[in-house]
Amino acid sequence: MPADRSFYITTPIFYPSDVPHIGHGYTEVAADVIARWHRQAGDDTWSLTGTDEHGQKMLRTATANDMGPREWADKLVQESWIPLLETLDIANDDFIRTTQPRHEQGVAAFIQKLYDTGFIEAGDYEGFYCVGCEEYKQTADLVTGTGRYDGELVCAIHSIPVELSKERNYFFRMSRFTDRLLALYEERPDFVQPESARNEVVQFVRRGLDDLSISRSTFDWGVPVPWDQRHVVYVWFDALLNYVTAVGYGEDEATFARRWPAVHLVGKDILRFHAVIWPAMLMAAGLEVPRQVFAHGWLLVGGEKMSKSKATGIAPSQITDTFGSDAFRYSFMRAIPFGQDGSFSWEDLAARYQAELANGFGNLASRVIAMITRYRDGAVPAAGEPSERDLGIRQTVAAAAADADAAIDRMAPHEALAAIWRIVEELNGYITLEQPWVLAKDPADADRLDAVLATAAEGLRALAVLLSPVLTRSTATLWRALGAEAALGALHEQPLREAGEWGLLPAGARVSPLEPLFPRIDAA
Ligand code: MSP
Repeated sequence: MPADRSFYITTPIFYPSDVPHIGHGYTEVAADVIARWHRQAGDDTWSLTGTDEHGQKMLRTATANDMGPREWADKLVQESWIPLLETLDIANDDFIRTTQPRHEQGVAAFIQKLYDTGFIEAGDYEGFYCVGCEEYKQTADLVTGTGRYDGELVCAIHSIPVELSKERNYFFRMSRFTDRLLALYEERPDFVQPESARNEVVQFVRRGLDDLSISRSTFDWGVPVPWDQRHVVYVWFDALLNYVTAVGYGEDEATFARRWPAVHLVGKDILRFHAVIWPAMLMAAGLEVPRQVFAHGWLLVGGEKMSKSKATGIAPSQITDTFGSDAFRYSFMRAIPFGQDGSFSWEDLAARYQAELANGFGNLASRVIAMITRYRDGAVPAAGEPSERDLGIRQTVAAAAADADAAIDRMAPHEALAAIWRIVEELNGYITLEQPWVLAKDPADADRLDAVLATAAEGLRALAVLLSPVLTRSTATLWRALGAEAALGALHEQPLREAGEWGLLPAGARVSPLEPLFPRIDAA
């Protein structure tokens, strides 16, 4: 990948009708890990997240809380959604709110353009609307309710009753794009990923697309339709546009040209909006379609999609308060093959924390630094002639770094971590076999001890760089303790695609004491 390559990645923008749970945190972390990787590799990276503040769901939740929708959104964004980014150590470049003027102006300009070019016209619509999805549903997407909604027609995703709604609206003539979309999926097989998501989308579009109702006149919480102020723009049509209004659409052509098109990370429940409606909108406006739409799976708790409405929501801070943000970031990225559903359990989290972070990585770092302190007065020794085993470690590091980069390129952070973890495991095995504490007893083994300590320190140097997009805090601590900060400069400035090279940490670098990176957690 050339050094100046543009890489723009987005998360969905979240409804701030309620507080975030770890399902939302999962998307944020995935986008952040991938963005940090590219940024540190020198790509011209931009990462965007934000909030989706219009529509009925927001309006109703605000009303139920005796507040206006804007006030309610302000409160939730300030008290919960911005703090979520701090809790999880997210380094986003921008945060867009759909109530910001930059966005509302862009939406008005975009919809006006489609109206002027004949892609929007008036019509009548009658259908079942789910406020949870903010979408008219097909009969196939409805099921018969149980319990509180016994016998009623409910949305299969939200398990809440749908509402029959009839309106005179404006329609986006999406049906015209069926063939062009099918050609897009055919020509660019990685446009929608993973494969299962792509197949679902292709099958859906093959059945033919209907036109899409894109305005509402029964409430006024939204962006006014420019040529007919009795209507507001449909919340999804409004929300999808955040991806372009945030990077200068209609306002700053140079920035727009620099950033667009984006990679969109989305949950699989909102795949069709992104892989069908959104590219059709862009085609109608004569803009490039996204670089990729990648659908990740759901976090399940007790076998069900975690959600606030089903009361299975766990707040991200419940995890980070005990285990820290690194453990949150690591365990979700490592444990769940990206693109598939994954079950969350406290037992699994605690087990990974102990086995992989504390005993695996943390202990390796502590041991190596303690031995350099004890046997070499805190100075990293020169490596000397490498043995077969030393060369084996070098090869492992080089291969793991290349494999991890390739895995991130195919949106597989779980595979990137598995590749990097080979270094942790091999280095731990290497130290066990080399027994530096035995070498230290005999002055005749001094050269060998130097080589072992230098190899281990250099392995840690590579690990700190490769893990820094995921373990943002502990790698920074390790970097300083290794003396790498003084010798090589800031961790985030180390070129990631060169992390697998050997011999970068110079002999003489001075290590300093390292507190346990992943302290023991006593069960409450
Ligand atoms: N506002 C829309 C998105 C508009 S993007 C132009 C929306 N918001 S949401 O807050 O309901 O959901 C945002 C994201 O959170 C979705 O990608 C959804 O899949 C994800 N998740 C919600 N619950 C989740 C889990 N339990 N697990 C994983 N992701 C989850 O939809």
